[in-house]
Parts: sequence; C-alpha cells; structure tokens
Amino acid sequence: MQKAIQVSNGICYVGVNDRVKVLFENLWPLPRGVSYNAYIIEDEKTVLVDTVDTCYVNEFSRRIQSVLGDKPIDYLVVNHMEPDHSGAIEWLVTRYPNIQIVGNKRTIEMLNGFYGIEDNVFAVEDQEELSIGENRLKFFLTPMVHWPETMMTYVQEKKVLFTGDAFGTFGTLDGGILDTQLYIERYRDEMIRYYANIVGKYGSAVQKALQKVSGIAIEAICPTHGPMWTNPENIAKVVTMYDRLSRYDADEGLVIAYGSMYGNTGRLAEVIAEAAAANGVKEIAMHNVSKSHQSDILRDVFKYKGLIIGSPTYNGNLYPLVESLVSALEDRLLKNRFFGCFGSFCWSDATARHFGAFVQGKPFEVVADPVVMKQGMLAQVEAQARDMGRVMAQKLTSGAEVVPNTSGK
Ligand SMILES: Cc1cc2nc3c(=O)[nH]c(=O)nc-3n(C[C@H](O)[C@H](O)[C@H](O)COP(=O)(O)O)c2cc1C
Ligand SMILES: [Fe+2]
Ligand SMILES: [Fe+2]
Repeated sequence: MQKAIQVSNGICYVGVNDRVKVLFENLWPLPRGVSYNAYIIEDEKTVLVDTVDTCYVNEFSRRIQSVLGDKPIDYLVVNHMEPDHSGAIEWLVTRYPNIQIVGNKRTIEMLNGFYGIEDNVFAVEDQEELSIGENRLKFFLTPMVHWPETMMTYVQEKKVLFTGDAFGTFGTLDGGILDTQLYIERYRDEMIRYYANIVGKYGSAVQKALQKVSGIAIEAICPTHGPMWTNPENIAKVVTMYDRLSRYDADEGLVIAYGSMYGNTGRLAEVIAEAAAANGVKEIAMHNVSKSHQSDILRDVFKYKGLIIGSPTYNGNLYPLVESLVSALEDRLLKNRFFGCFGSFCWSDATARHFGAFVQGKPFEVVADPVVMKQGMLAQVEAQARDMGRVMAQKLTSGAEVVPNTSGK
C-alpha cells in the first residue's frame, strides 16, 4: 500500500492525482493534470480537511486507510463545496457514519442541497475556534474565493493554513507534494492560468481574504490543488503573486490577441508586435484566438500590463472568438491595463465601435486610436499600426502607471 506523506508533524496528505480528465470544469485544458488535495490532522480528535472528486473515491479511501487503518474520523472540515472537493462526502458519511461535518452557514445549505446531508453537521462563525486536543483549529470565512461558502482553516499550534482553492494550481504532484520536494518553476504559469480562469473575477474577495489572514504566522499553505507551500521564500512569493493578481497588477509585457480568417488582421498584429519589440518590449505574447486556448490567453492577460486586441468585422460584429475573449475579460472585471485595438473590414467597420463599447468606463488607458484596415494594407494604416506598437512600448518600458482615460469616451 502507498505510504501516506507528511505535510508537517501530525498532518498527512491524502489527496489524489487526476491524470485522466482532459478539461477541468469541462472547460479548461489539463495538459499536466490536476491534484485534488485532502489532509488528515491527527490529535485527540482526527480531522479530515476536504475530500476529492467523486471519480477518485477508491484511491482516496485507500489513502485514508494507509494513515488511519480502522480508526474513525471525528471531523470533516469542508473549506469548499465545489464537487472537485466535496465529491467524496456521500461516500465518507456512509463509511464513517458518526463523522461530524464542519462548515459555515452557506456550507450547511449546500451539503443539504447537493447531497441531502443534514445530520451531524455544524456551522462555525468567522474566526471561531475548535479544539481537537493539543491543537486548535481556527476558521476564517473567505466568501467568494470563489464560491460563497469558501473558508480557510488554520491549525494555530502548527501554523498551517488550509486555503481551499486559493494558492492552488493545475498540475499533478509527481512524487513529492511539498514545494521543497518539487521543481516548482514548472507550476508558475499553471498557477496564474488557474487564477485567471477560475478565481479571476473575484479579485476584491481575494484581497479581503488576504487581509483577514495577514496577521497570522504561516509555516505552510496547504491548498486544494497543487504543491503545499512550506519554504518561507516560496510562501512570500505565492502570497505576493496572489496579492498582485487580485489587484490586477501585472508585469511589463504585452498580449496581442487577434482573430483573422484571411490574414489581414493578422498582418496588422505582426506590424504592431514588431514595433513594440523594436521599442524595447521583450515579453510579447501573440495569440491567434483560433489557435490558442482562451485559458492561455487569459493567463497572459493577467500576467502582462499591455493588451492589444484585433478582430475582423464579422456580420457587423466582432469575430466570434474575439467576442468570446472580450466577454471573458468583461466577466473577470479586468482593470489596470494599457489598451489598444485594431481590425479589418471590407465594407462597413464594426470593430472600432465594439471595442469602444468594451473599454467604455473601464480603468484602462487607451494608448492610441483604433487602427482599422479596409480591405488591404495601406501605407497610412501600416504607419498607424507601427505607431500603436511604439506608443505601447513607451508606456510599458517607462514603468508608467496606467492612468484611466476611458470614462465618458
Ligand atoms: C462571414 C463573413 C462576414 C463578414 N462580415 C463583414 C461585415 O459585416 N462588414 C464588413 O465590413 N466586412 C465583413 N466581412 C469581411 C471581412 O471583415 C474582411 O474581409 C476582413 O478583411 C477579413 O479580415 P481577415 O483577413 O483578418 O480575416 C465578412 C467576412 C466574412 C467571411
Ligand atoms: Fe473551486
Ligand atoms: Fe478546486
């Protein structure tokens, strides 16, 4: 039987790797899989923190067994009810009929709603404590990171914080589970992609959560996906990453995302990229929306401070996949970007109008007027495109703050 792995003295990892699922939430590709993390705390009382996706109940059961044998579990702490973590609860209450389920008011409603579970459940308030022997658990309600019932659980004596999806990432745990046992650079982009796609809309809730736990000493961050963060430098890095992402703060770099059927809009994209590079921007992420997965584009949009979007006019509208990207950006309440747009049309342009409506009232700094090409590339349009790339580069390389200029435009 597989041996349980220790996170800290008295805390074991009992999560599982999913190397099978192709799309997380049936939406987001999982090229490196994902882990569903769950933990056991052994004290006078035995506590399980979160469960796993229902597909992995057997493996989960074996892992629990390897730590506890036939010992009962006293408490299940539910930090998050999304089924990738609550999927094994029905099995759990059958296997451990006396288990007490700890959540908050919203969790309790959802336990009943999803699984018809009403018995042996109790709700804790924000910052309430529960003694389990030598250790005390303290619960921090962190609503909307990224569901209303999300909370974090802190083992005070061990300084271990179970954070739910916060600080989580795509990518399986290949052998090791702690940051100190893994090559963590491999997770960086996937962590940002996870944030941008799953949590991205809820920046202000993340900020409140970070504020709430800012006063506590943390020696381990244990999320529900990906590595456990235990090295102080890494803890500082991931906390800074979350703080910046949730404030929509980003690095010097540029995303150029465009759609193009016959290459005209694509030609403009190339001209803009060349000009930006010629003027000192090294990190340029070019995305043809028909080829790049939207989740990768959103990752880069959260990474970089410059954003330029292009589209052909399509039936009086934006190109469908560009429209989908724009709607995903709206949904994530994107802020604090240097922005530009471009397009191409044959008889009546609609791109400038649609992009204009998109930026209206947003905290974006529009760096140049829309560059729009009619039919083929004219020298004048090419010059405008070059100019857009150059002005964007100046903004990015000067380290200037975004000064929103889109209100009332
Ligand atoms: C299905 C379809 C719908 C189009 N709708 C419009 C339109 O409503 N207005 C317009 O000016 N051009 C329209 N066009 C023409 C394209 O916008 C134009 O050819 C543009 O240059 C294509 O850019 P691309 O080469 O980057 O694909 C349409 C083209 C296609 C194939
Ligand atoms: Fe979730
Ligand atoms: Fe999750």
